[in-house]
Amino acid sequence: MRRAGLAGLGSVAVLWLLALASLLGLWSQRLAAPGVPGPGFPREAAGSRLGNLRRAAVAPGESRRRLGLASQAAQKTFRALLTLPGQPPEPPDAASESGQEPPPALPRRQRPAAELPASPVRGGIFWSRALEAQVPPGFSAEETASWLRAARAARVVSLERGGCGRSSNRLARLSDGSRACVRYGINPEQIQGEALSYHLAELLGIQERLPPLALSRVEARGGQWAPVREELRGSHWAEGAVVSLARWVDNLTDVVAPALWRAEAGRRLQTLAAGELRGLGPAQLVELVQWSDLILFDYLTANFDRLVSNLFSLQWDPRVMHRATSNLLRAPNGGLVFLDNEAGLVHGYRLLAMWDQYNEPLLRSVCLFREATAQRVRELHRLRNAAAELRRLYRTREPLAETLGFLSDQQAQLLQDRVDLVHKHILHCKAKAASL
Ligand SMILES: *[C@@H]1O[C@H](CO)[C@@H](O)[C@H](O)[C@H]1NC(C)=O
Repeated sequence: MRRAGLAGLGSVAVLWLLALASLLGLWSQRLAAPGVPGPGFPREAAGSRLGNLRRAAVAPGESRRRLGLASQAAQKTFRALLTLPGQPPEPPDAASESGQEPPPALPRRQRPAAELPASPVRGGIFWSRALEAQVPPGFSAEETASWLRAARAARVVSLERGGCGRSSNRLARLSDGSRACVRYGINPEQIQGEALSYHLAELLGIQERLPPLALSRVEARGGQWAPVREELRGSHWAEGAVVSLARWVDNLTDVVAPALWRAEAGRRLQTLAAGELRGLGPAQLVELVQWSDLILFDYLTANFDRLVSNLFSLQWDPRVMHRATSNLLRAPNGGLVFLDNEAGLVHGYRLLAMWDQYNEPLLRSVCLFREATAQRVRELHRLRNAAAELRRLYRTREPLAETLGFLSDQQAQLLQDRVDLVHKHILHCKAKAASL
C-alpha cells in the first residue's frame, strides 16, 4: 500500500533515498550502541557481527585467499559481496583491479540501494546469483552416476570397523578401488530413511551436497559380498539384509553452526534475512547459502540428527552450538557435505511430536533461499505430488527400491504437508521483505 502510494507520486528516486536513509540511520544506531541488542538479537552476536564488519573492512585479502578465487573477475565479485548498504566506501583501488573504469560519477549516497551490484540478496529473499556461483561444487550428477555404477558392480574386498559412525557400520573397500561407508540399520526404517532422503535431495535439486548412495543386499554367497564372508560372520548382520553404501569422502572436517544459530538456552533464534547479513564476509555468506538448503531439507525430512540435536543438547551443554554439528562435514574445497540422513522421513516422521518444537523454529529462522530450491518447493506444492515424484525417482534410480518399500500413505501426506508449510513460509518471508 505505502509502496504503491509513493510510486503513484512518480517519485521513485525519493523512495530510494528514503529507504537508503533509513538503512543508514538504522546502521549508525547499531554502531553507536553496540551493546544494546535489538529484539531477538543476542548481545554476543551483536558484538561479533560488528567485529566481523571490521575484519571484513580491513582485511578483505585474507578472506579472499580463503575462498581461493583465481581470476580478477572473481575478485570483483568478491568485492561486490563485501559491499552492503550502509557500509563505508570501498578503498580506492577497488575498481582498478577489474581493469574497468568506475561507473559514471553519481554521488555515492544517491545510488539506489537495491541496485548496488553488491547485494548478496535479490528479490528480498533469494541469494544473489553471484553469491551462488561461489558455492564450492559438490558431487556432480555425472560423478555420482559413474560411482554408483562402479559400486554396484564391484565386490566388497574388505570391511573395517570404525570411521563410519555406529558400531554396526563398516568401512568397505570395493574392488574398483573406492571406499564406502556401509550402514546397517538396527531397524530397517533407518536404511529406508537414508535412501529416501537421498532421493528427496535430488527432487529438491540439492543432491550434490550428499555423498552418492546405493543400496545393497548382503548375501554371503552372492558375488558382491563373497570376499568378506569371514568378516560378515563376525558382524552380526542378518543374511539378506539391505544396507546402504555411501561413498567415502577423504579429508572431511567438522563444521560449527554459523553464529546466527549459536543460540543459548532459552533464547530465540536470530533470523537469516536480508537485513541481517551486515558484516559477514564472502566465505560466511557462501556457507549460509548451503545452510539455507540444509535447514529446508532437514525440516522436510524431519531429520533431528543434525542441528536440531545440537539445539536439544543445549539443555545440558550451553556451549554445544560452538561445537561440531552432527552429520555435517566440510569437504577440502569448502563445500558442505550432508552426511548420514537415516533419521529422515521415516524415523523422523515417527518422532515429530518430540522434534518439531526444534525443527519449526529453525525453519522459521531462515528467510533467505536459493531460488532454485524455492522453485522446486513451489512446484511440489502446486502439483501436490511430492510423494509421487519421490517414489518415481526412487524407483528409477534405485534397483532395490521395492525391497525396502516406500513411505506409508500417512508419511506421504506428512511430506506434502511439510512441503506446503515450507512454501507458505517462503511466501511469508517474501511478504515481510516487500513490506520493509
Ligand atoms: C587428504 O589429505 C592428505 C594429507 O594431507 C593428502 O595427502 C591427500 O591428498 C588428501 N586427499 C584428498 C582427496 O584431498
